[in-house]
Amino acid sequence: MDNFNFYSPTEFVFGKGRECECGKYVKKYGGSKVLIHYGGQSAQKSGLLDRVKKSLTESGVPFVELGGVQPNPRDTLVYKGIDLCRSENVDFILAVGGGSVIDSSKAIAMGVVYDGDFWDFYSGKRAQKALPVGTVLTIAAAGSEGSGDSVITKEDGMLKRGSGSDAIRPRFSVMNPELTQTLPAYQTACGATDIMAHVFERYFTNTPEVEITDRLCEAVLLTMVKETPRVIADPNNYEARANIMWAGTVAHTNIVGVGRQQDWNSHRIEHELSALYDCAHGAGLAVIMPAWMEFVYKHNVLRFCQMATRVFGCQMDFENPENTARAGIKAFRTFLHNIGMPINFAELGAKVEDIPALVDKFGVGDGRTGGFVSLSADDVTQIYKIAAKAEL
Ligand code: NZQ
Ligand code: ZN
Repeated sequence: MDNFNFYSPTEFVFGKGRECECGKYVKKYGGSKVLIHYGGQSAQKSGLLDRVKKSLTESGVPFVELGGVQPNPRDTLVYKGIDLCRSENVDFILAVGGGSVIDSSKAIAMGVVYDGDFWDFYSGKRAQKALPVGTVLTIAAAGSEGSGDSVITKEDGMLKRGSGSDAIRPRFSVMNPELTQTLPAYQTACGATDIMAHVFERYFTNTPEVEITDRLCEAVLLTMVKETPRVIADPNNYEARANIMWAGTVAHTNIVGVGRQQDWNSHRIEHELSALYDCAHGAGLAVIMPAWMEFVYKHNVLRFCQMATRVFGCQMDFENPENTARAGIKAFRTFLHNIGMPINFAELGAKVEDIPALVDKFGVGDGRTGGFVSLSADDVTQIYKIAAKAEL
C-alpha cells in the first residue's frame, strides 16, 4: 500500500427533510451573506428552492440568487457569479443542484478571492483559497458534494477542463434522497454510471495488495448493480435512492482510492465527448468505459477476472481467464444497456468522423497519459473506435 493522506472535511447532513436545516449549517460555517446558485427548472418546480430560502431567512442569513447553470457548466456564468458575489459582498456560496451547479459554485468560490482569471485554476494552477461552499444535492452522480474537484466548460472552443484543490471541498452537503425522486430515469441512470466509473477509475490499479480498498470498491459497485434497476423500476423507492446517494459520495471522496495508483483515462476521454456534443457525462462514460476496458484488459487479466466474478457474478474460467475477463466487460456493458444508457457512438449521438478532432483536443500529443495503462494518442484513437461500433 502506498503512503497517503485522506482528507475529507465535509459534514454530510443526510436524510429526509434535511434541506430545511441549511440555514443553520451556513451559519455554522461562517456564512453571513449567501449566493444561492442553482440550475434550470428542477429546484424551483419541486419547491426545494423555496424551502432553502425559508431556512436561510429563519436563520437570519440574507442571500442573493443566481440560477441558470447548464449541465456541463459554462465559464460565462461563472464570471457573472464572481461579479455578483463581489458587488453583493457574498461570503458563502450555497449550491442547490447536481454536479454542474456544485462545480460552478466551486469555480465562483475560487474566482471571487483571486485577482486573476479564474480559468487559471482550470489550466494547471492550484487554488490556495476560496469562499466556503455548501451544497444541497439533488442528483446522485458526480460526487462533487464531497470532492475537491470542479469541471467547467469554456464556451470559447468548448474546452472542458478540471480543477482540484482542498480549498473547494464543500464545508457541508445536505443529502436528502427524496430530492432525487423527481429525476427522469435517464438522468438517474447517467448518475449511476458516473458513480460506477468513479470506482472503476480507482479499482484498476497497478499497486498490489490493497485489499481494503478493493473490497470497498466492490461494496459500492455491488450496491449500484443491485439498487439502480430498483430505482429505474420504482423512482420513489426511498431506500434504494438512499443507498445510491450515499454510494455516489463514497465513490468519489477518494476513500475507495487511497493507498494506490489510479487511472482516470476514461474520464478524460469522455470529457471530450461531453464538451463536443454537450451530452450527459454519465452517458458518455457508458460508451467509453467498457471500450477502455476492452482495450486495456490484457494488461492485467486477473484484475478484470476479479471484477467479473466478484461484481458481476461471472464463472471463473481457469483454463482461459481471458474469457472471464471479457465476460465481465460484457456484463458491465449489458448492465448499462439495461438501465437505458447508450453503448456506442450512434446511440450517444457522436460521429466517427469526429474522432481525429476528439483526440486532438484530448491533447496527449507525443506523450502518454493515465495510471493503470499509460495511453498514447493512437491508443486513445483506438478506444474511440471501439466505442464507436460497440455492440452487446
Ligand atoms: O438544471 P436542472 O433543471 O436542475 O436539471 C438538471 C440537469 O438537467 C437535472 N436534475 C438535477 N437534479 C434533479 C434534476 N431533475 C429533476 N430532479 C432533480 N432532483 O439533471 C440534469 C443533470 O444535472 P447535472 O448537475 O449536470 O448532473 P451531474 O451531477 O451528473 O453533474 C455532471 C457534471 O459534473 C461533472 C461532469 O463532467 C458534468 O459536467 N463532474 C464533476 C466531478 C466533480 N466535481 O468531482 C467529477 C465527475 O467525474 C464529473 O466529471
Ligand atoms: Zn465522473
